[in-house]
Amino acid sequence: MTIERSTNNRWSSNFSFVLAATAAAVGLGNIWKFPYIMGENGGGAFVLLYLLFIFLIGVPVLMAEVLIGRRGRNSPGYAAAKLARESGVSSAWQITGWMGLSAGFIILTFYAVIAGWALSYVIKSVSGTFVGATPETVSATFGAMVSSAPELLLFTTLLIVSTVVVVGKGFKNGLERAVTYLMPLLLGLLVIIALYAAHIGDFATAFKFMFYPNFSALTTQGALIALGHAFFTLSLASGVMIIYGAYLPKGASIVRTSIWIALADTLVALIAGLAIFPIVFGFGLTPGEGPGLIFQTLPLAFANMPFTNLISTLFFVMLVLAAFTSAIAMIEASVAFAEEKLRISRWKAAITSGAVLWVLSLGTVFSLSGAGWAQLDWNFFGKELDSIFAAIDHLASNILLPLGGFMAAVFTGWVMKRHFTEEELNMSKKGYAVWRFCVRYLAPIAIICIFLQLLGIINF
Ligand code: TRP
Repeated sequence: MTIERSTNNRWSSNFSFVLAATAAAVGLGNIWKFPYIMGENGGGAFVLLYLLFIFLIGVPVLMAEVLIGRRGRNSPGYAAAKLARESGVSSAWQITGWMGLSAGFIILTFYAVIAGWALSYVIKSVSGTFVGATPETVSATFGAMVSSAPELLLFTTLLIVSTVVVVGKGFKNGLERAVTYLMPLLLGLLVIIALYAAHIGDFATAFKFMFYPNFSALTTQGALIALGHAFFTLSLASGVMIIYGAYLPKGASIVRTSIWIALADTLVALIAGLAIFPIVFGFGLTPGEGPGLIFQTLPLAFANMPFTNLISTLFFVMLVLAAFTSAIAMIEASVAFAEEKLRISRWKAAITSGAVLWVLSLGTVFSLSGAGWAQLDWNFFGKELDSIFAAIDHLASNILLPLGGFMAAVFTGWVMKRHFTEEELNMSKKGYAVWRFCVRYLAPIAIICIFLQLLGIINF
């Protein structure tokens, strides 16, 4: 509600909105997750599908969320409720907003742990662990970290505490500004690493792996993962784009800003792939390594560069910051909600959210370090879920996010009155028709087909 009242709570320019939204979008999803899920799902065909999902489903849904935020000028649940009322339908549609809030929080329970890995790698880099690294030492270092519950606990706790402090203080502005400089720097560093990787590794095989689609390597699970990741990486269906949209000035172009956010996000992910796969193939590692992939490849690139310690420290510091800005955006939604709804102070809201988050993150911590209670043996419609970490990631990223995207698409495409969305998007007739087709038909039907296929109800 605070958002609605304050008229000076607006981004200072379209560019600052694009930067802030890009900062929320670019994170572990691009650098840590995208390469390893691409590796696990056979490369090229997965990448192609991912790109299609980003631009045919992700961008239209991103536009839908920003539109909901800007027109609703409120936090996600209330914004959706207001627009539902405006269009004369049940305000039960506000569930679109609430679901996002929960999905973001659930994602954060494992996101904080992985960001903790990056933090631990900053310390390892400073202390020179990667000087003269070989594939064996690098993989032993990684293995020792994930099997050590105290180490995981320490870094996860550190990360959650820092997030709570920043959010509690309401530092947002300083942080957004820092990101303005850090994002381009991160991108620059990734390009340098990719060039080095091409030099010491096998660029040709990597390029072929990423860009020549081999459809026989793609499964229905893979398609679902590509879809879920398109939502994950653009930070969709987790409330944040609705909140950020609420601060967007009336005259700004939602189409243009959305396309820029998607392009920047995709670029970072693809360059991260090009930094990692030449090393995978050049050093005889396996692309399907899983969540440890970047932690077992990039240190090898660093070891072969001049100033190993400096470059690897710089890289992991930036990875932590990229993760940190995303974590803050994620927790911000639940803190703002607790503050408004429970009428408690910002500090209390931040500490409570942090405490709940910390307890829930223990599931991921102990499932990684191998504690028996955190291991599972579930078969979820053909997907083996062997730990709490795998289950949380799968349920949140691959089920809740596509569902949330589906609802945002249906809400703006079918529920809201046409002239309201037309007025907000302010596009050419043709452009609007394309967007409307995507949110009315393409996105919902694609999402339903993938779910039905997964449930075994249809078969392509
Ligand atoms: N897009 C982020 C990444 O790629 C992850 C993310 C998902 C996120 N939902 C979010 C970040 C909500 C901030 C807010 O790492």
